[in-house]
Amino acid sequence: MALDGGPQLSQPVAGAASFDRMWAELTPVGRAAATGGYRRFAWTTVDSTLREWFTAEAGRRGLDVVRDRAGNQWAWWGNPASVPGGGVVIGSHLDSVPDGGAFDGPLGVVSSFAALDSLRAQGFAPSRPIAVVNFGDEEGARFGIACAGSRLITGALSADRARALRDADGTSLADAMSGAGFDPTQVGADDETLGRIGCFVELHVEQGRGLIDLGQPVAVSSQIWPHGRWRIELPGEANHAGTTRLVDRHDPMLACAELILAARQAAQRHGSVATMGKVSIQPNGVNAIASHVTAWLDARGADPDAVRAVVDELAGLATAADGSLELESWTDSTVFDAGLSDRVRAVLPDAPVLSTGAGHDAGILANAGVPTTMLFVRNPTGVSHSPVEHAETDDCHRGVDALAAVVAELAGPPATVR
Ligand code: GLV
Ligand code: MN
Ligand code: MN
Repeated sequence: MALDGGPQLSQPVAGAASFDRMWAELTPVGRAAATGGYRRFAWTTVDSTLREWFTAEAGRRGLDVVRDRAGNQWAWWGNPASVPGGGVVIGSHLDSVPDGGAFDGPLGVVSSFAALDSLRAQGFAPSRPIAVVNFGDEEGARFGIACAGSRLITGALSADRARALRDADGTSLADAMSGAGFDPTQVGADDETLGRIGCFVELHVEQGRGLIDLGQPVAVSSQIWPHGRWRIELPGEANHAGTTRLVDRHDPMLACAELILAARQAAQRHGSVATMGKVSIQPNGVNAIASHVTAWLDARGADPDAVRAVVDELAGLATAADGSLELESWTDSTVFDAGLSDRVRAVLPDAPVLSTGAGHDAGILANAGVPTTMLFVRNPTGVSHSPVEHAETDDCHRGVDALAAVVAELAGPPATVR
């Protein structure tokens, strides 16, 4: 991908054309040829390419890029220190889950730059500073903690805990940051950055079927379900698969299988969802009984007590197997800011209002007191965290238009500010 090549924009281009150009540039970055899925993990060379792309796009528009204490990137149009109450922030993330889709995250970042282009093409002059943000490590695919970038700046994740996180190869987050040219000693809660955010609107591909069923291209989000991740450790004893009597075995795979089935059954009983999508087995040999299993539980639901009930049941099973179940991250129920959502809904009167079971940086900021809301763009497959995730180009353009209209309302001339 040519980051510095291509025409420099001396004139603003309309949102749709600029969206298409940026989307085409990003499409090859981090895509695995074998699956068509994306592997855009935090603090890797692919991540650096995406960050360079972000900086280059900001530069094309004359925006100043600053990195905060977690390495999140902010491209400012105007000086956020110049206005009490901070600016209007839009954006999302560029990282992915293993073999994720193209849209989860990048749609929000690309649409944000395109919305600014659309506004500039219309001669829009903001009365408040506006920023496009790229939150780092939203998916937590490499180090396990979802929304690590926003959790760090809000203090929901401590600097010491973050620096000590390790990926599957044993590399610490601190070393990964250093390797990518970011000083891990500066990591920490960042009140200065938070103080610059007057409000945050995150546009995102829808990760379910709500908009398909309603026949609408764009929705406004009302809330995010409470959700969390837990790590389960199950000890065992390595031994020969052929010579060890069944009665003599201490095989942690049995407890793991029991936990996987129990997660499904408990979620069904308590009206929530629970997933065990990641398991690490030691030593991982066909003809050896496992010596240790680490498995991860993701549990979510509209009712936090139902989620806790599921987790409590699984904790009991893990303990009975001489193992443990530990919380890795938790995000409370998020209800987006009513005043901000009302203003957004007034601008987009046809957009339905949807809640979601997916986690987002918008939820972390909202729970830290930042006025926040989200827009969703229809996903005709209804599938996400998979290469099948999709959004039609026309719907993406409608998302850009919707976001531009929202920014015009929130950062428009004082007369329109209510
Ligand atoms: C992030 O997309 C999550 O919901 O886990
Ligand atoms: Mn995601
Ligand atoms: Mn996302």
